Amino acid sequence: MKPRMAHWTKAIFGALVLLAVIGVARFGVGAVAQTPEQGLQSGIWDRWNPGWMERHMWDPNRMGPGMQQRMARHWRFMHQGTPPSYRGARNPLAGDAKTIAEGRDLYVKNCSRCHGLKGTGDGNAANSLNPSPALLAYMIQMPMLIDEYMLWSIAEGGKAFGTPMPAFEKTLARDQIWKIVLFMRQGFPGGATPR
Ligand code: HEC
Repeated sequence: MKPRMAHWTKAIFGALVLLAVIGVARFGVGAVAQTPEQGLQSGIWDRWNPGWMERHMWDPNRMGPGMQQRMARHWRFMHQGTPPSYRGARNPLAGDAKTIAEGRDLYVKNCSRCHGLKGTGDGNAANSLNPSPALLAYMIQMPMLIDEYMLWSIAEGGKAFGTPMPAFEKTLARDQIWKIVLFMRQGFPGGATPR
């Protein structure tokens, strides 16, 4: 009887060691929980990189370089805001018909060849660009694209992010940029027919 007991004790002990090893491997130091429940149990809770998140959806191979470049400006804004010279800037122009029409002319002259007359990213030059021009008609409705974001993007362009979006700080005055922003916020009125 005695040797048999010892045999069972060893088996149970072995099983416990095995469970402990699996436990450490899954939830131990450095291991990331696979489900919210495991995260709570183990106390290892990486909010930014939980194991069950479909992280590969965002990895470089999934997004493609163009998408990443586009995201870079959004990312930079989310974390650091705009550079100090644009911070807090608001469009001072009223939405009267004359100013909107001026904004439209400036947009057609400077932007539509890439972004399209209605801001749908389908200008004549659009196909040759990588990343492709932003869908401004859609993007401008995003809460993130506040006035100072628009001013910054248009003034400095995409050089810092490696995109072909030109910088307009040398060719357009601030009030001209504001006119364009006004026109875009009005929904690109009359944009379909170039003058
Ligand atoms: C040579 C083509 C080209 C011209 C001309 C151009 N853009 Fe762009 N623009 C792009 C491309 C490509 C992107 C996408 C990459 C990026 O975000 O930098 C872009 C991005 C933008 C963005 C950023 C959108 C976002 O979500 O961050 C804004 C705003 C913008 N353009 C406004 C304008 C305005 C206004 C004009 C005219 C004054 C203009 N662009 C002229 C190519 C162009």
